[in-house]
Amino acid sequence: ARTLTILGLESSCDDTAAAVLRQTENAPADILSSIVYDQAELHVAFGGVVPELAARAHAEKLDICVREALSAANTELGDLDAIAVTAGPGLIGGVMSGVMCAKGISAATGLPLIGVNHLAGHALTPRLTDGIAFPYLMLLVSGGHCQFLIARGADEFSRVGGTIDDAPGEAFDKTARLLGLPQPGGPAIEAEAQKGDATRFPFPRPLLDRDDCNLSFSGLKTALLRLRDKVVAEKGGLTRQDRADLCAGFQSAVADVLAEKSRRALRLYMAEAPTQPVLAVAGGVAANQTIRKALQDVCDEAGAAFTAPPLALCTDNAAMIAYVGLERFRSGARDGLDLVPRPRWPL
Ligand code: KG4
Ligand code: ZN
Repeated sequence: ARTLTILGLESSCDDTAAAVLRQTENAPADILSSIVYDQAELHVAFGGVVPELAARAHAEKLDICVREALSAANTELGDLDAIAVTAGPGLIGGVMSGVMCAKGISAATGLPLIGVNHLAGHALTPRLTDGIAFPYLMLLVSGGHCQFLIARGADEFSRVGGTIDDAPGEAFDKTARLLGLPQPGGPAIEAEAQKGDATRFPFPRPLLDRDDCNLSFSGLKTALLRLRDKVVAEKGGLTRQDRADLCAGFQSAVADVLAEKSRRALRLYMAEAPTQPVLAVAGGVAANQTIRKALQDVCDEAGAAFTAPPLALCTDNAAMIAYVGLERFRSGARDGLDLVPRPRWPL
């Protein structure tokens, strides 16, 4: 059984990350190090990620990140078997920075290079953390993504459905802004919602009338705006209780929609009779306890196991990129110095 050590790089959005993984064939992979530099502070004044600033910060931080990841893992470039890098999808300046950095290391050392799809990174994380066997159903829910995938192999995914407008994290963030709550909006809304009554305000449940696995979240944000303005018009402002009730109502609508669409996605997936059916969830929104509970209930009802990776591996990181690199390397995949960064790259 061959032991492989691999370096992973990630720079497709607003996190610069490097990680070193080691795995003996057919054994769980060890995360020897996982370094993440979060750029949130850099973009906070702009209310969103500024691509040019992000690219420059990635270019500045990648080298340091790689050095720290190697040193925290007690390894040197000479100990590595390959280098994996996010080659898309994402903000092209950031993706290019990572790919150029990886190519530089590869050209200098002769190490094989493997381009990794960022979404495959999220989608294979349940294998890295819990050794989940293919095929499993995956729900990716973050600030930028929202889709159901059946993961069949390291390079083989079937998309079952996804959002037709906003991602749920984006809806949480925009809603928080409308209510004067801090960013990121998800945790802020979850905290407020704990003190609120989810039944007071009538929020819609978008797309539930359609019998597919597609989702929509932009209508919830519009509904919130309308309900907020109605209260403000009546009372001249929002009380703490009004705000808590709005948060609770919004969160419960998101949870209901995700649960109902998960029920449908599970039905499709279970029809293939997997031996150990699993629904795995990943992405920042998977941190939400109300959403997790709703998904757990749906799985219990369907006879599937529910799993969510630890939060640090749910959000953007390079360990997941190194892991996809490992699986692809073992199956013989190699890229050359002509690897092309891709802003769009559906799974
Ligand atoms: O996966 P992630 O860190 O970054 C990407 O979008 O790629 O996800 C961040 C998103 C943000 O929109 C944030 O508001 C949301 O995840 N989020 C949450 C919670 N924690 C983070 N949404 C709902 N409830 C939470 N507890
Ligand atoms: Zn991501």
